[in-house]
Amino acid sequence: MEKDTDVKKIMAEERWNKRNARAYERFIKVTPSGDEQFWEDAIVNTPINKNAVILDLGTGTGFLARIILKNGFNVLGLDLSKNMLAVAKKKAPETFLVRGDAENIPLKDSSVDLIVSRWVLWTLPHPWEALEEIVRVLKPDGRVILCDGDSKNTPKSAVIFGTIRSFFKDILIGWRLPTWKRVYRKLDPHLPRWDYEQISEKLRDLGVEQIKVVHDINKRNGLLHKHIFHSEWEQFIVFFSNKR
Ligand SMILES: C[S@@+](CC[C@H](N)C(=O)[O-])C[C@H]1O[C@@H](n2cnc3c(N)ncnc32)[C@H](O)[C@@H]1O
Repeated sequence: MEKDTDVKKIMAEERWNKRNARAYERFIKVTPSGDEQFWEDAIVNTPINKNAVILDLGTGTGFLARIILKNGFNVLGLDLSKNMLAVAKKKAPETFLVRGDAENIPLKDSSVDLIVSRWVLWTLPHPWEALEEIVRVLKPDGRVILCDGDSKNTPKSAVIFGTIRSFFKDILIGWRLPTWKRVYRKLDPHLPRWDYEQISEKLRDLGVEQIKVVHDINKRNGLLHKHIFHSEWEQFIVFFSNKR
């Protein structure tokens, strides 16, 4: 049984190693997620000013950070993996990048206007700690846009299709053997992979009142797009504000 520190080490150094960081960036470039416009609209429609403090939690190779920069804001990108941050540094050099843990955010209480985070919560052994940290560092009227997903209600056929797709995707785009996924044998028992109900419940426990969940966002690009690109993964977005 891995200790918490080991899980984080495996996550940062094996799961998100140099090769996987480069493969991830290639996936982002080659696979049209349809997410760019959604995020751009979401960020632009958030009532924040140009000097707002924006945190991209688990920035990875800087997908969201790039959208934020493009819209004239500054952004702080936090990530556990130095390999992901190294790619982000090349691709989004104006981002202020920090190596750190989403479950122990190295920022002061009530210091951030907007926190965005895509596909990070499911990689955490204690997502509730990250939620506590998000609420702690958020300003009293701060906003959060959190995108994650789960496969709890995904039909088996879609999971099988997704597995076959990712086999070819790994080889053709990722330039790696699908055996890299063995790392999840070590990680999986430690990842509770919270769904939106668990996330919302924890937020309510933390006193957050204004929570809005948008379900199965993959469908917004049409069913065909969803099946081709995200068949095994039901993505949802949780919007919330620290306003009481
Ligand atoms: C699927 S990637 C998502 C990257 C990026 N947010 C995006 O939308 O492309 C998950 C990221 O979470 C990071 N991560 C995993 N555990 C973390 C932790 N405890 N603290 C901060 N980042 C973490 C990984 O290093 C990886 O870059």
